[in-house]
Amino acid sequence: MTETHERPLSIVVNNSPRTTTVDTRSTLVDALRDQLGLTGTKKGCDRGECGACTVLVDGRRVLSCTMLALAADGREITTIEGLAGDGGVLHPVQRMFLEKDAFQCGFCTPGQVMSAVACIKEGHTSSTDEIKEWMSGNICRCAAYVQIVDAVSEAAAEMEAGSR
Ligand code: FES
Ligand code: FES
Repeated sequence: MTETHERPLSIVVNNSPRTTTVDTRSTLVDALRDQLGLTGTKKGCDRGECGACTVLVDGRRVLSCTMLALAADGREITTIEGLAGDGGVLHPVQRMFLEKDAFQCGFCTPGQVMSAVACIKEGHTSSTDEIKEWMSGNICRCAAYVQIVDAVSEAAAEMEAGSR
């Protein structure tokens, strides 16, 4: 008898409960993209070096290429597809990336945006140097860094003003 490596996976993705079956060796990024069809999350290096695969797991940023899918069982995942509000109203970080032209090819952008959302929530946006430090795990091969930092800074200011 051959042993199967498939196991059930139940996660809440973008506020929707999802159940699927994954290979025990699958990473979260592969489960999201291949099993659940959420291809907004990108896979760049596939070894924890570029940040393209960043998603939020229970509100914290995680490199989904470094996490086994089954390690996410029972947890809440937010991907780029779940960031916009009702009626598709863009999250302030998404809107600022557009306004500040903070991308070129766009491949790194979903990871940059998810990381920025967490960076702001963590309170690491008091200066451009702090933003650079706490966004340093997200590589942009198009080198849109100046605009990315600007977008994160502006979104942080807007979100802080909105929460007062
Ligand atoms: Fe995950 Fe590069 S694809 S860090
Ligand atoms: Fe091309 Fe960042 S916009 S890699």
